[in-house]
Amino acid sequence: MAPVDTEATGSPERAAQNRAGSSPTYLRMSDLISALSYALDLTEGQPMGHSVKCCVLGMQLADICGIPANDRGDLYYALLLKDAGCSSNAARMYEILGGDERRAKSEAKLTDWSSVTFEGLEYLLRNVMPGRSRLDRLLAIASVAINRDQQAAELVGTRCDRGAQIARKIGFSEKTYSAIHSLDEHWDGKGFPAARTGPDIPIFSRIMNLCQTFEVFAALNGPHDAYQVLQDRAGTWFDPELVRAAKELKRDVTLWEKLEDRSVRQAVIDLEPVGLILYAEDARLDSVCEAFADVIDVKSPYTHAHSRGVTRAAVHIATQLNFDGATKQMVQRAALLHDIGKLSVPNNILDKPGKLTAQEWDVVQLHPYYTQQILEKIAGFEQLAYVASSHHEKLDGSGYFRKLNGEQMSMPARVIAVADIYDALSAKRPYRDALPREEVLRIIGKDVPRALDPQCFEALQSIPEPSAAA
Ligand SMILES: [Fe+2]
Ligand SMILES: [Fe+2]
Repeated sequence: MAPVDTEATGSPERAAQNRAGSSPTYLRMSDLISALSYALDLTEGQPMGHSVKCCVLGMQLADICGIPANDRGDLYYALLLKDAGCSSNAARMYEILGGDERRAKSEAKLTDWSSVTFEGLEYLLRNVMPGRSRLDRLLAIASVAINRDQQAAELVGTRCDRGAQIARKIGFSEKTYSAIHSLDEHWDGKGFPAARTGPDIPIFSRIMNLCQTFEVFAALNGPHDAYQVLQDRAGTWFDPELVRAAKELKRDVTLWEKLEDRSVRQAVIDLEPVGLILYAEDARLDSVCEAFADVIDVKSPYTHAHSRGVTRAAVHIATQLNFDGATKQMVQRAALLHDIGKLSVPNNILDKPGKLTAQEWDVVQLHPYYTQQILEKIAGFEQLAYVASSHHEKLDGSGYFRKLNGEQMSMPARVIAVADIYDALSAKRPYRDALPREEVLRIIGKDVPRALDPQCFEALQSIPEPSAAA
């Protein structure tokens, strides 16, 4: 096939630099990981920026505690990736609670789970099967209450294992791995997954657990009230010495101003320890994209291989269309990350077996917007962010979220749009079984050329069956 002009005629992409696809050796890992941490905040039901703020707090606390300079880089990335496993238990949490697991996770950060309390019961009343009959809810609440410890161990265990593995897969140290793995351990041994106690819990995990609680309560009620929570939990949840050290953070007005400032992400990038600065060269950038594709896909059993499937189809089409190397590389990374905004969608919508309500559909349609919001933060990812977030656009303007038309859709964006539909139809969904390849191509063909690009569709014809490609 002849080489294809990969620039859109009237797209804002034209102005964007394509540095993401052309060996961005200068891209800092701190820039990349801190931006992607916003997606983890979404899954955890936290405001975007929570992990970045925890990182600022944690690094300052490390300073106060005299953590050796050589170890600070390990702590820095553990703080940013502390919630890397949060999508892995989302579907199971929905299965147990039957409601919006993002809301339940957000409230769990505000509730003392370590003992049976009235506060804990109120939490269950708000989060277990909202909208169902009173009997259904009472039975479900009783079941959750009876199985509380076992289910909490399962949910936290999954999350810790997965999060730590993500960090290891990207290439971070064993100290970062174990810090994330023990994030939810409590000083008194009532935490999870291993009920470790006191100094047996890695110091980084103790710092991280304290700082995430500090940040969440400070965002709600200010640092003074938040510090009171730390004091109340000193010796149960938290290392009492760390709570004493955190008093200095409470008094630091400049620090809290910095956390509220719009430039807090630049502040966190600047906090990466001097002498330990990491760069995301091509291979490492690819492994981060692949690791986050897994974070995205594990959120729902119905999308367990979607990002990889879209990538396979997109790369096949881009190869058939003779895209140049840099553009093909950008398309591959955009495909891996295209649904990162989906981490904002609760599983009671993602995994819903029936038809979505208009309100639920509105939530779904926002996910490419979040993809754009997250990826555009990364230096050199301007074009990649635009292409990735255009995956639900159609040539006739009937797509979302920008309702682009053919003039505004570049070839890379058209490739991702076709690849996304191909994999979505090829996979099993809550409301139907997987469709055979010929049927998938027949369905897609009905939208060509009105909504989908004919060249991309033609290039897709030769894609091997997934099993043949493996
Ligand atoms: Fe999507
Ligand atoms: Fe998708």
